[in-house]
Amino acid sequence: MPSPLLGRTLDGKFRLDEVVGAGSMGTVFRATQLTLSKTVAIKVMKKEFAKEANYASRFKREAKAASRLDHINSVRVVDFGDDDGLLYIAMEYLNGRDLLTILSKEWPLSTSRIIDLMSQTLAALAVAHEMGIVHRDLKPENVMVLRTKDDEGHEVELVKVCDFGVAKLLPDRKGADGEDVQSATATGTLTATGMLIGTPEYMSPEQVSGLDLDERTDIYSLGVILFQLLTRCLPFEDKSAIKLAMRQIGEEPRRPSALTPGIDAKLEAICLRAMNKAPEDRFAGAREMRAELRAIHGAKESATHAARSPLPPVSRRIVPPNGEPSGDDAALSKAATVLASHPPSAADRANAETIAAPSSKDVPDVEIPAATGTLAAGELAMPPAPRVTVTQPSAQQLQMRKRRMWLAGFAIVVAVGLLLAFAR
Ligand SMILES: Nc1ncnc2c1ncn2[C@@H]1O[C@H](COP(=O)(O)OP(=O)(O)OP(=O)(O)O)[C@@H](O)[C@H]1O
Ligand SMILES: [Mg+2]
Repeated sequence: MPSPLLGRTLDGKFRLDEVVGAGSMGTVFRATQLTLSKTVAIKVMKKEFAKEANYASRFKREAKAASRLDHINSVRVVDFGDDDGLLYIAMEYLNGRDLLTILSKEWPLSTSRIIDLMSQTLAALAVAHEMGIVHRDLKPENVMVLRTKDDEGHEVELVKVCDFGVAKLLPDRKGADGEDVQSATATGTLTATGMLIGTPEYMSPEQVSGLDLDERTDIYSLGVILFQLLTRCLPFEDKSAIKLAMRQIGEEPRRPSALTPGIDAKLEAICLRAMNKAPEDRFAGAREMRAELRAIHGAKESATHAARSPLPPVSRRIVPPNGEPSGDDAALSKAATVLASHPPSAADRANAETIAAPSSKDVPDVEIPAATGTLAAGELAMPPAPRVTVTQPSAQQLQMRKRRMWLAGFAIVVAVGLLLAFAR
């Protein structure tokens, strides 16, 4: 993408090498931080905004606040500045894809992947909120996903939330009488009471109403993103930004499961709670929402673990005959029920079967008890593995066996000898 700024060095520090994207507020470049010979991303704000009164000072204030954010799931702001009227913000360069691209190319996403992506986004939000920073423009385009490896070398996805605070920093617009006026943006017509406006499809009722905002506006936007991850659809769509805003305020969203049958019921409940019209009916904060999501994930994990772990010894019955499970047994049977509603992948099955089925050559004596209780075949999405106990004969038993064989042999020889004697 051509830009007259290509090749220019900002403040003697950052050389603009390539345009990587453009949004409604400015252009993003791949750039080189000259002192460190390091690749960074630079967002240069549109020049027209910089001319507005107070804009530059507010931009710097927001950029400074964003630069204090230091969390693995938020994009790191390395610098910001004003080079002869060009306001810019320098960030870590992200070699990944945004959530919108993932949605359009890879939907449907598995429940565990959705939970993972949302949990990471919420982790970034929790820290930002604690520092008093509200994002105000959460949308899939502002959630970047990178592929990387964890400590053990497994491929994982790493979320980076972009544009904290500065995504929709708009000029103060006052009418002749000093009243706020409506301002039109590329994404919609919304109030410009102060400074920040968002993308109407993801905006909370209080945001489209121009009311004071707190972190719960981000929870609403995240509810919309979760809705989209589950269904590929937006809860509300309209060509008119005003009508869309009205729907955000007054219309209840459809149930995600009405659009995509089979959605995890708890995940759907979390999505709808985040999207409640009144902020006090949503999650109180990002940590609470994250904990709810991870509880679903935890239940799935423990169920999978139960299926993968070596089975307990035969004496540890899971359900007493004609009785209710109790204690550990109750937890196991609960895990089995969760597993039933989240069938394991082919890889999980292969894994579980490898652990649970040693070859008969390896085990001299095998007892296979009858299937018991709630872990019986019908309840699990995979066949129950036989439980195996290995009983090695002791040296004494072997001696006894040998003696018995000798006696039997001796008895046979005597019997044959007597028969022959009688026959003569
Ligand atoms: N830190 C970064 N590293 C690499 N690429 C980035 C980075 N930040 C943004 N981009 C790319 O630049 C594009 C434009 O980003 P920008 O924030 O300007 O617009 P947007 O978020 O898509 O929309 P809007 O301006 O309406 O909020 C993004 O789609 C993304 O692909
Ligand atoms: Mg952005």
